[in-house]
Amino acid sequence: METPEVLPEGHGREDTFYRCTACHSTAPIRRSRLSRDRWDELMDWMTERHGMPALEGDERRLIVDYLAGAFPPHERRRRGPANPFLTD
Ligand code: HEC
Repeated sequence: METPEVLPEGHGREDTFYRCTACHSTAPIRRSRLSRDRWDELMDWMTERHGMPALEGDERRLIVDYLAGAFPPHERRRRGPANPFLTD
C-alpha cells in the first residue's frame, strides 16, 4: 500500500494523495509533468470522464498548486509530434 511519502514533499501532499488514490495509485500522477493550467484541466477531466467528486475552491487550489509544484513540465523540449490538444 502506498503512503503519501511516495509523493514529493510539499504543502498539500496529503490532500492530493488521499483525493487521488481513491481510484488509482500515484503512478499516473508521478509520470505526468504538466503546467498548472494543464493540471487544472486534468481535474475537470477526472471529474467529467471518471466521476471524481468535483474539486473546488480552496481544496482545488491547494491540490493544483501542489501538483504544479511537484510535477512541473519538463524543460522546453518535445519528443515526437506535439499533441494537438496540448497547445501552450
Ligand atoms: C473517481 C476516480 C478517480 C479519481 C478520484 C482520480 N482519478 Fe485520475 N484517473 C482515473 C482513471 C479511471 C484514469 C485512467 C484514465 C484512462 O486512461 O482512461 C485516471 C488517470 C489519471 C492520469 C493519467 C492521465 C493520462 O494522461 O493518461 C492522471 C495524471 C491522473 N489520473 C491524475 C489524477 C489526480 C491528480 C487525481 C487527484 C486530484 C486523480 N487522478 C483522481 C480516475 C480517477
